[in-house]
Amino acid sequence: MRPKALVTHALLPEAMDFLARHVDVEIGTKEVFLAKQILLEKVRDKDGLLSLLTVDIDRDVLDAASRLKIIANCAVGTDNIDIEYARKKGILVTNTPGVLTETTADLTWALILAVTRKIPQADHFLRSGNFKGWKLDLWLGREILGKRLGIIGLGRIGKAVAERARGFGMDIVYHDRRRISADEEKALGAIWLSLDDLLRTSDIVSIHASMTVGSYHLLAREKLDLMKRDAVLINVARGPIVDEKALADALENGRLWGAGLDVYEREPIVEERLLRMDNVVLLPHIGSATYETRLKMAMMSATNLVTALKGEKPPNLVI
Ligand code: DGY
Repeated sequence: MRPKALVTHALLPEAMDFLARHVDVEIGTKEVFLAKQILLEKVRDKDGLLSLLTVDIDRDVLDAASRLKIIANCAVGTDNIDIEYARKKGILVTNTPGVLTETTADLTWALILAVTRKIPQADHFLRSGNFKGWKLDLWLGREILGKRLGIIGLGRIGKAVAERARGFGMDIVYHDRRRISADEEKALGAIWLSLDDLLRTSDIVSIHASMTVGSYHLLAREKLDLMKRDAVLINVARGPIVDEKALADALENGRLWGAGLDVYEREPIVEERLLRMDNVVLLPHIGSATYETRLKMAMMSATNLVTALKGEKPPNLVI
């Protein structure tokens, strides 16, 4: 008998075709969000689960899924899954590392430039019929050459952001619990600083840490208060790493110059005040959203699922 898999949301056609060749697939929903009740019902008789990062896989789900052998998350982050409980129940968990590194680093840079050069605002200004001719003080942004970029979390994506920063002539510092070797630091041109020193001295702070219990509100109010008044905060990692209300306060009262966000604390809800601010660029969690990368993510998660259901070790095991 073929194994049964619940795919919470349809993947790109190539990945669905691949899955259909190996397992009996049921799709969770056509909507953006999968209701918990439906998830609980559909996962009950499944051997495998392929999930998006929007699907909360908690104890209830893991308890309901008595036959489950694998959760293949179609994301590099696995903070939507109760990993410890899955481990206890002997359920494998996989993710999609590596394939979205460069795409997410590109998007980080798109945000840095969009905020510092006010690109969305200037575009809106022109489309609204306000461009009457060149002016010396029209939409003045901030230069990044020679400024300091502070990277929080120097994993794959943090490093790819640092590599690009060298091309922009920036001074690069980073904070990570694990310091890279002196040789790697030299090659990357990055210097380790404590979190507080990074926040005190950076012109642009970019977050690339993973979401863990320890990184919840890593940038709480008192940390945001350490930042320079003319600094910019970029977050393409996970929303809850930043206290979003404290960030809105800081931007509102001029404690920070600007922010570029791709992720939010209570996604898809965005702090109301941020929506009205013109020193903020807001994106709908599209860090890895290129066709090429999303196809790789889909194929990687599908391969992880099928491999585990064949009884073999899947390539991208988290636990
Ligand atoms: C991830 O993979 O964790 C990103 O947030 C989406 O690409």
